[in-house]
Amino acid sequence: MRRKYLVTGGAGFIGSHLAEGLLERGYKVTVLDNLENSIADPDLDQNSQLSFVKGSVTDRSLVRELVAEHDAVFHLAAMLGVKTTMTHTIEMVQNNLAGTSIILEEAMRTGKKVVFASTSEVYGKGEPPFSENMDLRFGNTTKLRWSYALGKSLEECLCLAYGRKKLPITIVRYFNIFGPRQKDGSYGGVVSRFIKAALTGEDLLVYGDGSQTRSFTYVSDAVEGTIRCLEEKADQEIFNVGSRNEITILGLATKIKNLTKSSSNIVHIPFDKVYPHGFEEIPKRSPDINKIETILQYEPQVKLEQGLKESIGWYRRKLARGELS
Ligand SMILES: NC(=O)c1ccc[n+]([C@@H]2O[C@H](COP(=O)([O-])OP(=O)(O)OC[C@H]3O[C@@H](n4cnc5c(N)ncnc54)[C@H](O)[C@@H]3O)[C@@H](O)[C@H]2O)c1
Repeated sequence: MRRKYLVTGGAGFIGSHLAEGLLERGYKVTVLDNLENSIADPDLDQNSQLSFVKGSVTDRSLVRELVAEHDAVFHLAAMLGVKTTMTHTIEMVQNNLAGTSIILEEAMRTGKKVVFASTSEVYGKGEPPFSENMDLRFGNTTKLRWSYALGKSLEECLCLAYGRKKLPITIVRYFNIFGPRQKDGSYGGVVSRFIKAALTGEDLLVYGDGSQTRSFTYVSDAVEGTIRCLEEKADQEIFNVGSRNEITILGLATKIKNLTKSSSNIVHIPFDKVYPHGFEEIPKRSPDINKIETILQYEPQVKLEQGLKESIGWYRRKLARGELS
């Protein structure tokens, strides 16, 4: 019989690609999403092997029913984004912690494997390249930007505690995933924000001097890394899911401006203007991906420029059809 997977947050950016990736590999998929931050993409395939349930991961009876019907759970549902973290801290912490707690409790009931989506944010102010076994270094809790990372790290602890009780569990720490369908608004990722600005002639707003670096991972690589976590050798492990595509934010803006042949300006804007209640930027973020390469034979395939071209093509088509505001 076809294996059947539950993808929470499957109407969002990574989750929708993950659902597609699972369907392409011949699995059945159920998406559970409350549609609070979902993407509406008319190009998304209708597929008889895909079911959609509108609801929340905080709804215990719904989660109990769904988990029992599936072979494993990919738990991606969460509120995220640096701005959301600072403007909706209470809702975000409550939503994410409650959801993960319920997913794990219900998975434990029937012994179902869980793959949990964590984040490179948990490395905080550590010294890159970040490897899975290093200590995590957060800033002061008065800076609310740390609430997302602290929450995700607490959720990781919960996962690992259930792991000790023999629940098969894998944690993936995603590093700046980008690609088609990523939100382009102020709450979205920097790649989509820059592409949209470049294609519509608006300024590309670089926060600070732009010397901060990130390692951008194309979404198809993230999906491959995540699906490999179904393997038994991934149980009770944490994996960085990232790439070696490290670039400064100013370098990224320049690249996108050139690739789109845009006449937009690159404009610097001080952090305290973007985040008036105080912010702490992480100057450099890059993953050590040796562990996932060695254990799961994951190798990122998509170079930054190739991924940017794919994403730009998608945004161009969507803008031309009036499908992006
Ligand atoms: N995008 C990245 O670069 C990145 C980096 C690190 C970690 N992550 C993690 O990966 C996961 C997916 O991120 P994404 O970029 O696809 O975000 P996204 O916002 O596009 O997707 C999250 C989805 O979860 C849904 N959701 C939120 N709360 C829910 C709830 N209570 N019940 C049901 N659905 C709910 C939203 O409607 C949305 O569709 C998240 O857990 C995030 O923390 C993403």
